[in-house]
Amino acid sequence: MPNLPFQTATGTDLAHAAALLRAGQLVAIPTETVYGLAGNGTDEAALRAIFAAKNRPVSNPLILHFGSVAQLRPYVGAVPAAAEVLLAHFSPGPLTLLLPRNPARVPDLVTAGLPDVAVRLPAHPLTQQLLGQLDFPLAAPSANPFGYISPTRPAHVLRQLGGRIPYILDGGPCAAGIESTVVGFGPAGEPVVYRPGVVTLAALQAVVPSARLRTPAEAAQPAASPGLLPFHYAPHTPLRLFGPGRADAPLAASFDPTATGAITWREPLPGLPLVQQYVLSPAGSLLEAAQNLYAALHQLDQLGLQLLLAERLPDDGHGLGAALNERLEKAAKR
Ligand code: TXA
Ligand code: MG
Repeated sequence: MPNLPFQTATGTDLAHAAALLRAGQLVAIPTETVYGLAGNGTDEAALRAIFAAKNRPVSNPLILHFGSVAQLRPYVGAVPAAAEVLLAHFSPGPLTLLLPRNPARVPDLVTAGLPDVAVRLPAHPLTQQLLGQLDFPLAAPSANPFGYISPTRPAHVLRQLGGRIPYILDGGPCAAGIESTVVGFGPAGEPVVYRPGVVTLAALQAVVPSARLRTPAEAAQPAASPGLLPFHYAPHTPLRLFGPGRADAPLAASFDPTATGAITWREPLPGLPLVQQYVLSPAGSLLEAAQNLYAALHQLDQLGLQLLLAERLPDDGHGLGAALNERLEKAAKR
């Protein structure tokens, strides 16, 4: 066992969390998407500590979290008109915007040297109160070791980062369950989806009709969003996908039922013990499936199985089902 520097505590003490952050320490914070590993976004030492605790390459830029649009203004340059509309409609909420960075306020380490900075106003009430007590934004990637599954419960953070941080601010299970939708702006100022999430393309288009996905050429540019690696969010147990639907579900005879787990959409797989299975939403709600997806991966990854099977969610164009399937595809790629 390596010697880890902290005895990690979990609780709801906002004053303690704020004091730690002011002292340059890291605190895991609840958001409506996933738990974040937060530090002072203007403090180089705190930023380095975030990369170190996650074992994350510094080429992968961080999101700055703010309590209000007013707090955010000084950190960015001219904001595209469409971004103002999105801020008005979706903030606070599970949306991250890539805006021109004010280099006098935002350290290079936050953006990996890119001209834009990722900003977000999280909706979780505890974290909003915390941000209201601080006079700096919080840099916060998801609170997982680099490449592993994002945490949606305090226990997930404790298991993954216990001993590496002093405090986990307990805000209960995350309501949205997958990471925020990341949106940049194209040449004509139109919103461009970099990472799909609960705020879907259709929801964006309802308020800014020009919103679009990245073109294949844009998506192929390695520098466009260095964090968007083809593998990510992966459990340690090998993961194999099937579906959507059951037509290509692996037959019970094709796997060892004592060493196989399954994550499914509405009904368990025949031929496998139920304790090795997680049904994401028996009622068929994609929102519920999103809340449960990472908890399912965390839970089944603890069982020491040899294989996890997962059923793709119904394909709904560029909706939430597609966002969940994107996470599953990446989790299966490792
Ligand atoms: O829901 C979320 O966004 C959570 C919570 C904690 O807020 N945070 C999160 O952070 O998922 P992280 O670091 O795991 O993912 C941030 C994503 C990465 O894919 C990163 O590459 C991208 O946003 N990103 C950050 N800054 C960027 C920038 N300046 N330009 C392009 N992409 C950027
Ligand atoms: Mg992450």
